[in-house]
Amino acid sequence: MKRTLGVCYYPEHWPDAQWAKDAARMAALGLTWVRIAEFAWSRMEPEPGRMDWGWLDRAIAILGAAGLKVVLGTPTATPPRWMLTRHPDMLAMDAQGRPRGFGSRRHYCFSHRGYRAECARIVTLMAERYGGNPHVAAWQTDNEYGCHDTVLSYSPAAAAAFRDWLAQKYQSPQALNRAWGNVFWSMDYAGFDEIGLPNLTVTEANPSHVMDFRRFASDEVAGFNRLQTDIIRRHSAAPIAHNYMGRITEFDHFATGADLDIASWDSYPLGFLSDRLEASAEHKRAFVRQGDPDFQAFHHDLYRAVGRGRWWIMEQQPGPVNWAPYNPDPLPGMARLWAWEAFAHGAEAVCYFRWRQAPFAQEQMHAGLLRPDSAPAPAFDEAAQVARELAAMPDVAGTAAPVALVFDYASAWAWATQPQGRDFDYFRLVFHFYRGLRELGLSVDIIPPDTADLSPWKVVVAPGVATLPPAFLAALERFGGIALIGPRSNSKTADFATPVPLPPNLPGLDCTVARVESLPPDVPVPLDGGGAFLHWREKLEGNDVLERARDGVPAVMAAGSIRYLGGWPDDAARYRLLAAACDDAGVPTETMNGPLRRRDAGGVRFYFNYGAEPVTHRGITVPAAGVHWSPR
Ligand code: GAL
Repeated sequence: MKRTLGVCYYPEHWPDAQWAKDAARMAALGLTWVRIAEFAWSRMEPEPGRMDWGWLDRAIAILGAAGLKVVLGTPTATPPRWMLTRHPDMLAMDAQGRPRGFGSRRHYCFSHRGYRAECARIVTLMAERYGGNPHVAAWQTDNEYGCHDTVLSYSPAAAAAFRDWLAQKYQSPQALNRAWGNVFWSMDYAGFDEIGLPNLTVTEANPSHVMDFRRFASDEVAGFNRLQTDIIRRHSAAPIAHNYMGRITEFDHFATGADLDIASWDSYPLGFLSDRLEASAEHKRAFVRQGDPDFQAFHHDLYRAVGRGRWWIMEQQPGPVNWAPYNPDPLPGMARLWAWEAFAHGAEAVCYFRWRQAPFAQEQMHAGLLRPDSAPAPAFDEAAQVARELAAMPDVAGTAAPVALVFDYASAWAWATQPQGRDFDYFRLVFHFYRGLRELGLSVDIIPPDTADLSPWKVVVAPGVATLPPAFLAALERFGGIALIGPRSNSKTADFATPVPLPPNLPGLDCTVARVESLPPDVPVPLDGGGAFLHWREKLEGNDVLERARDGVPAVMAAGSIRYLGGWPDDAARYRLLAAACDDAGVPTETMNGPLRRRDAGGVRFYFNYGAEPVTHRGITVPAAGVHWSPR
């Protein structure tokens, strides 16, 4: 497969006379894709029912004539102002019951049936008009589901849809009362119409209620997306993508992804380092102009799984962004490194966001490949270099990894609902293990929790999966490698209750989690073998003890292929436990030197240097903010 580059472009922001010049310049730069239209509803339909397709027809024709392929976005993330007049109750509501205001984007409630009908209407019109257009080579649904905290809506529309969802799931209020344990605090319901949303309660709502609301909200995103994919597929054979984000766990991306052909994500490494990563000030300082060395790769691996092998970067940071607490300029080389790192993880395409920096509105401080005056910004030349390198290089095929790491969205909801300790965040836990694997030089596959065949991997790591699905437990029984499970894995039933017999209930392992404790970060629990548990510690009972904490309580249990980990390991314990699991499973490791990361793809071995200084490793010197590749 040929890997390609692209860019996000907003023809509606620029005079028509500019489009052909822009298109020619994009093609000369070596770009293949141009994504357009995802926010342009007010220009497609200036008044209800009055369509203006002329400008979009022309834009697509001009881009296509320049040899570019169009990714056409449906504009449903930005309903125009008239929509609100038509459907005053379409606004999402926050947990305080306040409606989200008009004047930015994503103000709609996923559950509003009237708004869904409007979305079906505009998507049908677009799909009918452009489904057969030879230049429209891919679609994007909506834009970044969940961005700006928009999955959970506490609106009347959501409440009504939630009741329907509950009635279908439980069939009777008695069954719901039993599943939720509503006898506790006299919370029993006599009918589904009595059930509200789990906000504005005096103290915490029943966690089973919250979990069902979160499952429902996730299903609403999938349903909203499916409405669009069903329509597009009736008129177009082009693949359909959605652009997901970094560290968004409010909806199950595997479920939404099942209706799409390609998963894509929007990668803003410097913004993410600044605003969505737990890390020391020293770490953030060291990587301030490069981004965290593992955060992007984690999402590449995650979205490769969500896309069942097909994935893209739909938006790649090209320079300073506008939205993070601090918005530094990337080091020279990073716009190239980020793209190559994506290709090394199997990305089919990397599209920079955006073509030209807009001199107006919310994102006027957000860099593009061009400055507002159309002069090239620094990333322009780096994109050109990547295009030349791609053309010269044999394909970066094959992504098989020896290690799998489970990622489960429902567990993110579970531990947000009942953290039991301030620091117990699911993403943070899984990412901690991912970083540990990368520091051992490993290529990683991320897999969904219901994976029924673990035989492609030699090591499987599954921290914090609240409920291990039967298919996964059955696969564990057959597994011949080493599976490192826990902490907190399998500690809830599907109804969000504590199972009896007590967790973890893993096949063939004599182990019981007798008690758990959460701890402030400065209270470690030292382990016999070195390092410590932090944040979370379980007191294990049973005969299969592999290692104890220094206070004598079992910390790691093992039998056959399965190892159960009764705590959140610090960096030293993480290194030791992961290295031992790999050793025992026959997976060679290569400890990485500081900011260096390794990735094997097909016959090529890549090293990425996220450091601001050159790094020498095994005789290879990788320049600062640079990439090195060689046959392996
Ligand atoms: C993304 C979004 C884009 C743009 C970009 C700015 O989250 O999809 O429309 O806002 O961020 O960095």
